[in-house]
Amino acid sequence: MTSYVSVTADDFIERDGAIKLYDATGFEGMRKAGRLAAEILDALVPHVVPGVTTEALDDIVRRMTLDGGAVPATLGYRGYTKSCCISINHVVCHGIPGPKALKEGDIINIDVTPMLDGWHGDTSRMFLVGDVPIKAKRLVDVTYESLMLGIEQAKPGNHLGDVSHAIQTHAEKHRYGVVRDFCGHGVGRVFHDAPEVVHVGKPGTGPELKPGMIFTIEPMINIGRPDVKMLDDGWTAVTRDRTLSAQFEHSIGITETGCEIFTKSPAGLDHPPYA
Ligand code: MF3
Ligand code: CO
Ligand code: CO
Repeated sequence: MTSYVSVTADDFIERDGAIKLYDATGFEGMRKAGRLAAEILDALVPHVVPGVTTEALDDIVRRMTLDGGAVPATLGYRGYTKSCCISINHVVCHGIPGPKALKEGDIINIDVTPMLDGWHGDTSRMFLVGDVPIKAKRLVDVTYESLMLGIEQAKPGNHLGDVSHAIQTHAEKHRYGVVRDFCGHGVGRVFHDAPEVVHVGKPGTGPELKPGMIFTIEPMINIGRPDVKMLDDGWTAVTRDRTLSAQFEHSIGITETGCEIFTKSPAGLDHPPYA
């Protein structure tokens, strides 16, 4: 059974299976954390060029997070040792920054989660490295559109299944595969909280959306089949058929009338092209 619990910033909040309904103090905390997260991604734009290593990008993320008064929530999370995830081409998610250099034509996802005053701003965007084939650009465009169509369904009275269905319908219309193995999640005081936000589903199913709910939507969409494979590092997930994968993520809060996107780019750089 779905249970909801109203919370305020002073409460002790843990991952206990309940869906938290945050008050204005929670929304204010998420607004600040989400803004910092978006600013970090904005600042990365000029650095995503052929030849740069993903660990150099991770260094920028860590420095900006700390300078912003926050801590990278991924640092030390279940043994993860980097400040962001960088997923290149057929990597679906949780790519680990390292000495690998980006090359012209790559598409990459950078996923950041600064924790500011205890609030988690979780967001990711795709970046195009130099000139990118039209096939890859189309995947990136449709993935962003799918996220935003899902967000349009995020309003009180709707169900999570309405969000999922909007995403799945748009992606599959383009004959893409929607990843099943990873989902969005409640977020706020807790990095990964209830509910699970799956990206395929039927209208009217799943938990009802209520004002105060805060969660991420983060569809991963593949040119080919939805199936993923874990690499031996225990983190990196890749497409089984090695086709390209794309993802965008926002952290949002349900309001009385719709939703607030906490992680929108203040610079208007929510999706490529950024030039
Ligand atoms: N930011 C990712 C998400 O969207 C989680 C990354 S956890 C890590 O939920 F340990 F892989 F970094
Ligand atoms: Co997330
Ligand atoms: Co994320």
